[in-house]
Amino acid sequence: MSRYIIHTFGCQMNKHDSERMAGLLEAAGHVRAPSNDEADIIVFNTCAVRETADDRLYGQVASLKALKTGGRPDVLIAVGGCVGQRDGERMLRELPHVDVVFGTHTIHELPSLLDAAASGRPLASVAEETDRFASDLPSVREHRWHAWVPITVGCDNHCSYCIVPYVRGPERSRRFEDVVTEVASLAADGVVEITLLGQNVNSYGRDRYGSPRFAQLLHAVADTGMQRIRFATSHPKDLSSETIEAFASIPSLMPYLHLPVQHGSNRILAAMNRGYTREQYLERIDRLRDVVPGIALSTDIIVGFPGETDDDFEQTLDLVERVAYDHAFTFIYSPREGTPAAVLTDAVPRDVAQSRFDRLATSVRSLSLASNERAVGEAVDCLVEGPSRRDPRVLSARTPHNRLIHVPLPVGETAAEHAGSVARILITGAHPWFLTGEFAAPPV
Ligand code: SAH
Ligand code: SF4
Ligand code: F3S
Repeated sequence: MSRYIIHTFGCQMNKHDSERMAGLLEAAGHVRAPSNDEADIIVFNTCAVRETADDRLYGQVASLKALKTGGRPDVLIAVGGCVGQRDGERMLRELPHVDVVFGTHTIHELPSLLDAAASGRPLASVAEETDRFASDLPSVREHRWHAWVPITVGCDNHCSYCIVPYVRGPERSRRFEDVVTEVASLAADGVVEITLLGQNVNSYGRDRYGSPRFAQLLHAVADTGMQRIRFATSHPKDLSSETIEAFASIPSLMPYLHLPVQHGSNRILAAMNRGYTREQYLERIDRLRDVVPGIALSTDIIVGFPGETDDDFEQTLDLVERVAYDHAFTFIYSPREGTPAAVLTDAVPRDVAQSRFDRLATSVRSLSLASNERAVGEAVDCLVEGPSRRDPRVLSARTPHNRLIHVPLPVGETAAEHAGSVARILITGAHPWFLTGEFAAPPV
């Protein structure tokens, strides 16, 4: 028996994959360790989407060299996920203290790779593709009340800046029955909330001729009795009317949609190969708000794509204010080797990109605050997640609109008693990134 620790970077798909890695390792008899110092197996599940994520990984792994040379030579270091997929064997040469490199399609091999490496032979196993969905593997969920449920893997969109299609492979949909059966068994197992996952959930079923599409999947999943349903991510060009209407007809589908726009200028959207114009995007937003009044909206935005002018950037700002997002994730463009945009020469100078980014961040912050202020006075059913990160006497919960809310822990009660429960909370205060509230009487 060994003790393991997994460090997870990147998106929700990686969080899901890490839960499967933990499941595999525990099925092989290993137990979780609280820190690197107490672990015999250290796994990094990595992200390659931007340079900063990459750098952090190489830095962290390099710092473990000291652990190995300083008296614990038997510790096994494994690197998986999207950087493992991209770098494969090369990583073993560049980081000689790494023992195992695995990819996004070889998660199931992790225990056997570790066994082989334990006999002193570092090795890499990275496959181009697999028919196997990681969801078939055993799992140790981070929270007993929440589960990630992949419905597609890979991506066929090839946005010009994005490395994901190269490290996650072509898009493939999971069998409809397999998804529904898994959600039904999660509901029976006490899971309160699921998040359906895919790089573009809206294209679910496109690769399975005659099989149901995403909106039908949502209805079938809701019919299992699962209490709260969320999904990520939606590509605007594939957001169907049926999916929009599902928000109105399925009470358990939470009123929140993450709809990445990436940019506000048609010229840049075309250069990004996004497949829609700002007008088409805004039209989708209008339709959504007509059908689902009050739906919360968030987005991803890239600043400083090659060739972005001041005018292009103003159009991003204008779109953000027009939509009045409840939240936005903002990124400075990071060239990724092997993607079509990486060869573009008209780079935006770093300081220009940074000052545009700062202006956008200011706008996003005030919109988030305004959105949170509008929610004050409402009493809503929130899923309690556990103690807040800063203060053990405060509980963190999520509103249906995916807003983070802090509530004082009632005297004499523990956070563990509340974690995973759904409670009616009165929203009493607003800050840019969170709300404050208090427990209200349960609904009659
Ligand atoms: N499949 C999802 C998530 C993709 S990665 C989607 O299509 O929305 C998450 C976000 O990272 C993207 O939405 C994009 O905003 C950002 N991103 C991707 N590649 C990037 C790059 N090269 N530089 C900066 N941000 C990037
Ligand atoms: Fe990347 Fe575009 Fe696919 Fe999202 S839709 S993963 S941004 S290529
Ligand atoms: Fe990163 Fe891979 Fe997700 S590159 S964003 S962890 S699919």
